[in-house]
Amino acid sequence: MFDYDSELARHHERLLEALDVRPGDRVLDVGCGTGLTTRDAARAASVGSALGIDVSGPMLERARRQAEAEGLGNVDFVQGDAQAHPLPPEYFSLGVSRFGTMFFSDPAVAFANIGRALRPGARFVQLVWQAADRQEWHTSIRTALAGRHASASTGDDPFTLADPDDVAEVLTTAGFTAVDVVDVGEPVWYGPDADHARTAVLQLRMAKDWLAALDAASAERALDRLCATLDAHDTGDGVWFDSRAWLVGARRV
Ligand SMILES: C[S@@+](CC[C@H](N)C(=O)[O-])C[C@H]1O[C@@H](n2cnc3c(N)ncnc32)[C@H](O)[C@@H]1O
Repeated sequence: MFDYDSELARHHERLLEALDVRPGDRVLDVGCGTGLTTRDAARAASVGSALGIDVSGPMLERARRQAEAEGLGNVDFVQGDAQAHPLPPEYFSLGVSRFGTMFFSDPAVAFANIGRALRPGARFVQLVWQAADRQEWHTSIRTALAGRHASASTGDDPFTLADPDDVAEVLTTAGFTAVDVVDVGEPVWYGPDADHARTAVLQLRMAKDWLAALDAASAERALDRLCATLDAHDTGDGVWFDSRAWLVGARRV
């Protein structure tokens, strides 16, 4: 399973700072994955609580195990599509998502569903990727594995919320106001050295898809190119690539 917590450690700090969870908050974490954001929100909410929702059973299993290991009694996880899952109305005082909102089939419907679960005036803070061509991690891995002209995304497109005007429009349509978009330029980490980074990258769905499209000889050459790329980004203090994200804040009307 890909380790988003290590990849996104720098982004995580920025998100928690912007989220500013207060004791007593009830936090909803959308597309929570293995739940680090949910657990950190639950800790900060102390007498409050946090609920993570995700479609992935295996990720939630890991999230639950980790919450139990950490002795957190005020965190819960539910499996479901945040676009349609019936969440308790006007229950949460704060919403958050760390790169978990870019995959909805109908973002307006999804954000309206999330909005209904938030109290009037509650903040919703998300990190989403800027455009594919602004992501060194993406362009480098794509060029290595699939060539410069391959399509930016394979299956699920992580760049659907890259346009701030579109994001503001869809959130406003869904019942949010005061949409605020901040540019976040933090690097992503793929491992302590190139070997570990290779293992990590090959767990990414896009990498698997690009490789699957190649014959055996081409795949071998692509893997050689990937190793060279990762070597070039091995700083001696980990393998890092630049990235650009938007930190999107909004308030439920
Ligand atoms: C890039 S991962 C981020 C996971 C987590 N927020 C983190 O930062 O580690 C995106 C997550 O969104 C989840 N996801 C995708 N579509 C979803 C949906 N419609 N409803 C709920 N979760 C979804 C995926 O299963 C995945 O765990």
